[in-house]
Amino acid sequence: MNWPKSQKLLDENARLIPGGLASLNRKADPVIAFVRAKGSRLWDIDGHEYIDYHAGFAPYLLGHGDDDQIAAVTKAMHDGLSNYGTGPTREEGDLAWLFLRAVPHAEKVQFFNTGSEATQQAIRIARAATGRSHIIKMQGGYNGHHNAVAMNLMTPRVELGALQDGEYPRVPITAGIPPEELVLTHAVPFNDLDAVERVAQRHEIAALITEPVLQNIGVIKPQPGYLAGLRALADRYGFVLIFDEVKTGFRASLGGYQAIAGVTADLSTYGKAVANGFPLAALAGKASLLDLATDPDPKRRVLIAGTYNCHPVPVAAAIACLKKLMDPAMDVYGHLERMAQRLEVGQRELFAKHGVPAIISRVGSASCVYFAKTEPHDWEGILAHHDAAFDTRYRRALIERGIYHFPVIVKQGSISFAHSEADIDRTLEATDDALRELRG
Ligand SMILES: Cc1ncc(COP(=O)(O)O)c(C=O)c1O
Repeated sequence: MNWPKSQKLLDENARLIPGGLASLNRKADPVIAFVRAKGSRLWDIDGHEYIDYHAGFAPYLLGHGDDDQIAAVTKAMHDGLSNYGTGPTREEGDLAWLFLRAVPHAEKVQFFNTGSEATQQAIRIARAATGRSHIIKMQGGYNGHHNAVAMNLMTPRVELGALQDGEYPRVPITAGIPPEELVLTHAVPFNDLDAVERVAQRHEIAALITEPVLQNIGVIKPQPGYLAGLRALADRYGFVLIFDEVKTGFRASLGGYQAIAGVTADLSTYGKAVANGFPLAALAGKASLLDLATDPDPKRRVLIAGTYNCHPVPVAAAIACLKKLMDPAMDVYGHLERMAQRLEVGQRELFAKHGVPAIISRVGSASCVYFAKTEPHDWEGILAHHDAAFDTRYRRALIERGIYHFPVIVKQGSISFAHSEADIDRTLEATDDALRELRG
């Protein structure tokens, strides 16, 4: 398979846009320019069709171009396409009501356009509430592109260095963060409560932010007791616990991963699946924290603003999405689980048949194959055990057989409500063929 038109498009765009695309996280090898998506399928400019497991970095939980959502969005556009820039809208209230029914542990909710805005505001609120500045994030966790968290993601072994006093050396993923800001963030290993405690003993921590399952380096699950341990440390040291459910929210379950784990954060951030791919994000949690937006004391008041917050198009998309996710007759989560299990069972058989050491880590419709004999519990575990070269070849071999996984190691695979048994079976046939080639 080759993609000459895709490459040409990237080159043309690159004369005008640095890198040729508007999110450099989308840049990958092979370069594929997609032109259409529907249900579980993608089509590229070079004329190939794929079953999609990337889901645009995970939002498309219902699948691409969900008809109910399109109808709702079309209606919103005809009804007066504006968020007026003044006063409340009925629709934002309707969305808040639905959201809080779906996420019952949250007392209040606020809305933004992107996950990065939600995590940025969560950290700002935590700093305002505690009067402290330092924060803790996870090595291997991604919480957005802003200064407070743009560091220590998929850090190469040579740059990672050794843990000192519970934390890794800071490795920003962008230039331009002032050093005085950089020192306020501490990156610790996931699944290591001792590391968090050591950092909390040495610094005035305002917040700890973590995905409850690390889903930007595959699917790294919290070990039993870990999330509850974070909760206890937050209470002991007085910092705000932020669960970043931008990926797990609505995908792991209706109430996010917190509903599965039974551990409640003070603040939680959502995005992606909440509007099935339309730009909408949420920050939910304790009223006492979110109400800082209207604190009578201007020194404590947190600015919540955004021209496009709750724009009617994503709001209509989110309402349609939540109604479908919450409709027992649709049984969205039942279908997702059946498809995900079918894929997992099939993959296990194929890896055994071809003698490929592999660990499949899955939470609901999100999964990742680690080519390892030992299950990784953090980023260092991936560096130590995962066969990255094989992963790269595996993803390429699947793409060439019409199965699209993002071609970067340990990136999560996502199933949607639009995936059918026939899609899964075709995926397994392609996997069988790919493994035969890779092992041959
Ligand atoms: C867990 C998590 N938090 C935050 C973000 C940032 O969201 P956005 O890209 O919408 O700004 C992402 C994006 O991938 C994410 O995966």
